[in-house]
Amino acid sequence: MSTPKAVHTLHPYETREQYIHYIHVKHVNATLSKHLSFLQYTPEHVAGPGADIDPTQITFPGCACTDTPCLPGTCSCLRHENNYDDSLCLGTIGLEAKYAKPVFECNILCQCGERCRNRVVQRGLQFRLQVFQTDRKGWGLRTLESIPKGRFVCEYAGEILGFSEVQRRIHLQTAHDPNYIIAIREHIYNGQVMETFVDPTYIGNIGRFLNHSCEPNLLMIPVRIDSMVPKLALFAAKAILPGEELSYDYSGRFLNQISSEDKERIDPEQLRKPCYCGAPSCATFLPYDSSLYWFPLGKPDTS
Ligand SMILES: C[S@@+](CC[C@H](N)C(=O)[O-])C[C@H]1O[C@@H](n2cnc3c(N)ncnc32)[C@H](O)[C@@H]1O
Ligand SMILES: [Zn+2]
Ligand SMILES: [Zn+2]
Ligand SMILES: [Zn+2]
Repeated sequence: MSTPKAVHTLHPYETREQYIHYIHVKHVNATLSKHLSFLQYTPEHVAGPGADIDPTQITFPGCACTDTPCLPGTCSCLRHENNYDDSLCLGTIGLEAKYAKPVFECNILCQCGERCRNRVVQRGLQFRLQVFQTDRKGWGLRTLESIPKGRFVCEYAGEILGFSEVQRRIHLQTAHDPNYIIAIREHIYNGQVMETFVDPTYIGNIGRFLNHSCEPNLLMIPVRIDSMVPKLALFAAKAILPGEELSYDYSGRFLNQISSEDKERIDPEQLRKPCYCGAPSCATFLPYDSSLYWFPLGKPDTS
C-alpha cells in the first residue's frame, strides 16, 4: 500500500492569503496544483446563480448583552440552552437525537464582545489540517493535531445555488466526476422545508476535500451567524488523533435522513459510486441525494 502523500497544510485561522500561499508556494505536487488552478478560494459562502438569499446579507438582529454574558433566558441569540460549553465544544454532540437542533451564534450586530462563548464557528480554523492524496478516493483532508470531541473543525463553504442551477451542473457531470454539490434540507415548521444548495466545485474552501465515511469522525451541523443561509459547520463527532483522515456521512444521517421513497428511486447500476471508506459497516456505495438527479432539467427555482 502506498503511503499517502501530503501536499499542503493549512494552519489555524484559514485565510485567503494562507491558502494561496500553500497552494502556490508550498505545494509539492503538480497534479494538485493543476486540480486547484481553477478553484477560487473563499472561506465563506458566496451567492451563485439562482440563490434565494445573499449569504453575505445580515439578516438577524443582535442581542443586547453588554453587562452580562450571553446566557439562555437573557440573550436573544440563545433560546433554550447554550450551544457550546466552556471548552468550545458543541453541547448536543453525541446525543442520540434524530435531528440537529438549530444553532444561532452571536453576530456582528450583537453587543457582546468577541470573547462571547456563543461565537465558535466564526473564529475559523483552530487546528492544523492537511490536504493529501488518498489511495482510492482522490484527495482527502486530515488533521495534524488531536481534535477533542465536540470541537469545530471546518466549514463546507461554496457557491449558494438555486435549484435550476444545481440541476444544470449535475447534468453536466459524468458518473466518474467527483461531486461537490450538497443539499441541506431543514424542517422549519408547519411541514415547511428550507433547502440550501452549496457547490464548492469552482469557488470554495478546504471542506471540499472531505471524503465520505460510513463511520465518520465529523458531523455536519447548520449554524447561523449573520445570515439566514446556514454555514455548514463540521464538528468532531469523537476524539480524533493526529494523522487521521477527516470524514463525514454524505447522506446527512441525523440531519437529513433518506426517505423510503428516495431509496426506491435509487438506481444502483447507473448512479451509485463504490464507497472506499474501509469502515466495517461500509454500505458499499456512496450515498447520494436522489432528488438532485430525479427532477427534469428546468424545474423552476422556488425563488
Ligand atoms: C466532496 S469530494 C471529496 C474530495 C475528493 N476526493 C477530491 O479529490 O476532490 C466528493 C467526491 O470524492 C470521492 N469520494 C468521497 N468519499 C469517497 C469514498 N468513501 N469512497 C470513494 N470515493 C469517495 C467521490 O468521487 C465523491 O464524488
Ligand atoms: Zn447575547
Ligand atoms: Zn454573545
Ligand atoms: Zn463506506
